[in-house]
Amino acid sequence: MAARPSLGHTGGSAEPARRHRSTPAVTTGGSTSRGTGVELELRGITKRFGSLVANDHIDLKVAPGEIRGLLGENGAGKTTLMNILYGLVQPDEGEIRVDGEPVAIRSPKDAINARIGMVHQHFMLVPVFTVAENVMLGVEPTRGLGLLDRRKARSQVKELSGRYGLQINPDALIEDLPVGVQQRVEIIKALLRQASVLILDEPTAVLTPGETEDLFRVMRELRSGGQSIVFISHKLKEVQAIADHITVIRRGKVVGDRPPTASDAELAALMVGRPVELRVSKEPARPGDVVLDVSDLTVPAEHAHHGAGENQNSVQGVSFQVRAGEILGIAGVQGNGQTELCEALMGLRPGTGAVRLDARDISRASPRDRLRAGIAYIPEDRREDGIVADFSVADNLVLDTYDRPPYAKRIAMDIPAIREHAKSLAAEFDIRTSSIDTPVGTLSGGNQQKVILAREVGRRVRLLLASQPTRGLDVGSIEFVHRRIVEERDQGVAVIIVSSELDEIYALADRIAVMYEGKITGFRPPTVPVAELGLLMAGAGDGSAAGTGPDQAAGAGLEATAPDAVIEAGNPALGVIPVMTTDPVVITHPADGGEADGGGSADGTGGGATADGPATGGQADPA
Ligand SMILES: Nc1ncnc2c1ncn2[C@@H]1O[C@H](COP(=O)(O)OP(=O)(O)OP(=O)(O)O)[C@@H](O)[C@H]1O
Ligand SMILES: [Mg+2]
Repeated sequence: MAARPSLGHTGGSAEPARRHRSTPAVTTGGSTSRGTGVELELRGITKRFGSLVANDHIDLKVAPGEIRGLLGENGAGKTTLMNILYGLVQPDEGEIRVDGEPVAIRSPKDAINARIGMVHQHFMLVPVFTVAENVMLGVEPTRGLGLLDRRKARSQVKELSGRYGLQINPDALIEDLPVGVQQRVEIIKALLRQASVLILDEPTAVLTPGETEDLFRVMRELRSGGQSIVFISHKLKEVQAIADHITVIRRGKVVGDRPPTASDAELAALMVGRPVELRVSKEPARPGDVVLDVSDLTVPAEHAHHGAGENQNSVQGVSFQVRAGEILGIAGVQGNGQTELCEALMGLRPGTGAVRLDARDISRASPRDRLRAGIAYIPEDRREDGIVADFSVADNLVLDTYDRPPYAKRIAMDIPAIREHAKSLAAEFDIRTSSIDTPVGTLSGGNQQKVILAREVGRRVRLLLASQPTRGLDVGSIEFVHRRIVEERDQGVAVIIVSSELDEIYALADRIAVMYEGKITGFRPPTVPVAELGLLMAGAGDGSAAGTGPDQAAGAGLEATAPDAVIEAGNPALGVIPVMTTDPVVITHPADGGEADGGGSADGTGGGATADGPATGGQADPA
């Protein structure tokens, strides 16, 4: 790949015209026009990783101008299928056809030639390059990029952003852009390569509700231009809102096609192969002693961003307490200091003020000492902070504790104990992996998250600090994790849940704190109407928060846990939130066997359903 200097400083004169012609993949604005739909068909796609069958004779047809929702539990094989379509993984069997013609896709380059584009679960942009530089990357890898290309890229970025309403400045540096805007860059990159089929693998997992709405608008625009989209999400509401058809896969097989009018309950059951309780029931909290006491915590911003107010703090004088046996939910639009707050509580980021755990001052303690003092931590960015990708599943399950009994005897690690521990956690948390010796980085996104959850929730602690704990998890796993978190609470653990999903906050919290621009704008009981919460999230503080000392805050919390404050099904929030993972409905009908219907691409064997009774699960065997 070209180094940065060749991108930015190629001199002042225009490049020769032949360079212009030598960039076939990037076309002039006019030829990225609409009405370029193709019919995509996958036939019998099969992919094995050792003994694990990630894709099992998958058939899928996507018409021009169609948005196809792809649903499936964690490890069902969605990403693998999309990676095959984009040439990143080679199938063992099966065929891909574009407009009826078989195509060989051995690399992303082949995919691009076949007019297939992909926006990855984890973006592949270069942070120190500009938007325009990034969209040009890979277009002309052998020669570096000239001024002409950069100009062209800038004008094409502008043209496309205008046409699809994708607000983007071609000269902005990627590292300065919010995630939602980075995603637009990825989409533009694919569009510039004339993608007729766009693969979006969990594009909304990291977006704010507003950004998600923007993305949906763009998707509809593309659809009306004849482009087709394969859209993967674990949020049923989103798939119902945007997809024309929904295909559900389970353990590598297509188990059904449904219209977007299918209910949450039906889709969830089809995905998981059993009824799912979409809202975990819980008793009112019985808060005990104060476990965590945070007073006047301020965390300086990491680096002042261009344009943003200088010397602004990420967290500004925050005070609160969490008691044993209660769940404090921290709500807020992403980027209002929640990440920095968690990192400061874990000692990963310097801050001023006092943090006490069980009345002991841990303000200066290292992250390791805080873990040992009894904090469990589920970080927001699992790939960065939660796992070591090259280490095995078993080793990742003891990352915090490997150097202590029972996993260590004097200086040596006790390998059999580690393995036993790993096997039982993998079974309990339904971690889908071919073996506990597999590098954790090869697990599906949701299963990586389950490894972290199993490690952190699977040991005895005083405080559980969980940031976006169910991001990327399927509905069945969310049910399980929510239940475990409530169990922890009921055993007297103090719990903090930071989540940008309001429904998750409503489902779990005994008391809600709202963050806005580094401050807590209010504490509320979980009966608070969503509109009021929305106002607090938009910065409409109620004054009481600013002066809320820890005692007042705790008082508010006790109020919030009065029995009549328990949230039940029918919570007003659930009808209003545009983007939701779950629903208050409790599904009662089983969806096994015969449910695997119906639609043209269902395999209809019924074997899929019988083969994955909840307890057995061939693929889940961690041995
Ligand atoms: N390179 C690999 N080596 C071994 N196993 C793999 C590899 N890639 C994927 N797998 C396995 O294939 C299965 C399907 O994974 P995939 O990533 O396609 O799931 P997914 O449906 O995208 O799940 P999620 O919703 O969690 O993202 C998983 O069990 C995963 O561990
Ligand atoms: Mg995936």
